[in-house]
Amino acid sequence: MDSVELPWGARCAALAFFGFSLCMAALSVVLLLVRRWPWCSCHVCRAYLTRSWARDFTNLGDWYAHLLRQSPTGTVHVHVLGCTVTANPANVEYMLKTRFDNFPKGKPFAALLGDLLGNGIFNVDGAAWRHQRKMASLELGSVAVRSYAYKIVAQEVETRLMPVLADAADRGTVLDLQDVFRRFAFDTICKISFGLDPACLDREMPMSELANAFDTASRLSAMRGAAASPLLWKMKRLLNIGSERELKKAIKLIDELAAAMIRERQKMGFANSHDLLSRFMASTGDAHSAGDDKFLRDIVVSFLLAGRDTVSSALSTLFMVLSKNPDVAAAMRAEAGVGEKPVTYEHLKGLQYTHAVLYENMRMFPPVQFDSKFCAAADVLPDGTYVEGDARVMYHPYAMGRMPRIWGADYDQFRPERWLTGPGGAFVPESLYKYPVFQAGLRVCIGKELAVTEMKAVSVAVVRAFDVELVGENAQSGAAGAPKFVPGLTASISGGLPVRVRRV
Ligand code: HEM
Repeated sequence: MDSVELPWGARCAALAFFGFSLCMAALSVVLLLVRRWPWCSCHVCRAYLTRSWARDFTNLGDWYAHLLRQSPTGTVHVHVLGCTVTANPANVEYMLKTRFDNFPKGKPFAALLGDLLGNGIFNVDGAAWRHQRKMASLELGSVAVRSYAYKIVAQEVETRLMPVLADAADRGTVLDLQDVFRRFAFDTICKISFGLDPACLDREMPMSELANAFDTASRLSAMRGAAASPLLWKMKRLLNIGSERELKKAIKLIDELAAAMIRERQKMGFANSHDLLSRFMASTGDAHSAGDDKFLRDIVVSFLLAGRDTVSSALSTLFMVLSKNPDVAAAMRAEAGVGEKPVTYEHLKGLQYTHAVLYENMRMFPPVQFDSKFCAAADVLPDGTYVEGDARVMYHPYAMGRMPRIWGADYDQFRPERWLTGPGGAFVPESLYKYPVFQAGLRVCIGKELAVTEMKAVSVAVVRAFDVELVGENAQSGAAGAPKFVPGLTASISGGLPVRVRRV
């Protein structure tokens, strides 16, 4: 067919129209960005945007702690993030208990983690959360699941963790203890959650596809939250470029591996198994649907995220602290008693000093350093701070552990004795609103008891058998000095935790 040649004037007009439309589209994007992007030049926002805080502080959390100590209310506002940050226990109680319904996780948070967590317990509010919470609390609270979980922890310690450490001690090699604890915690939580063993902590230290994909996906999902505007990552996701492309690939792999595990569990049968997947499968009934598979995938992925990096983070900072405070390690050893035989569950439960050491470590180095909620309708916090509707409010356990008004003038000292104020020096817990390391109120962590038992089992076994000596730059900082943390959903030490272990 012959093409019709447009006259020169008409071609110019078409070109001008096309150019005009393009300019208008670009202008709309700029206007949208300007409208959604809060501009501010106050000293806090300037320091945040230019990262000038990094000149004086090791971590963003250290800078926030400094700002919050200076604030008379223990609350500050970072305008460019549209976020109120608080370290005030009365505010924390108000958000997590008194006005729980007005401070949900909210849609913006669900969007950040939605691709990874789907509708898992971590990422939903309202009826969907209530349903999973009830079911998960029931299972984790049951004697059968608890004793199954403890058996797995004890087995992992004896058959994997201790041989790896003994090997390093005998060869005199330097070991990245953070990597060892991540492998340990991943194997343990996979066995507890799926009843399947990825065997990451075998002597050869094999790489696990699932563990790697998990690392990538949680790191990149956390990066979304650190951006000053969500428009940036949403645009990248739409165009499937850069970090969003990488995230999509990692999540696809997690989906495939989770689906394979669910299929395998179904084939193996789940009626008499005590892993969480089997218990949740039993509760979804016999008539299995694709919707059930998605539900199972989401809840179990939430459990992996909840139970892996948190435990390994706390264990890593614990051994960093113990190697700088050998008297504390010696007191733990004295409390647990020496000997070849593994300590029993009952014995672990009674260890008051060790309990205090774990809590003191998480006071200074909480695995989840901050947690955000969204204020549904405009509200006033107990300290008088006004919060707009749809605005973000963050409480900050890392900063709260460093507030003299909560812990006294020695807040920067590692002192387990501050927890041993009960009769005969027994451990006494602090209000969870002052110490929201496991969150508090209606959404308090449901794996808390399991996590504490797991950490006790590991720390007691290691301390009884080995001395751990830090090597590298973290060995240089003071007795309770903070290492540099990698920004992420859960705190991990930048550069790992290189150590030498010696048999005691
Ligand atoms: C030292 C270890 C741990 C710490 C510090 C910790 C801390 C937390 C925190 C801060 C939250 C609230 C997170 C949020 O809502 O954004 C949470 C929730 C949760 N944790 Fe843990 N956790 C630990 C270990 C575990 C373990 C081992 C499990 C499972 C076996 C677990 C299961 C959960 C679940 C299911 C939730 C969601 C609760 C809800 O939203 O209702 N946690 N945890």
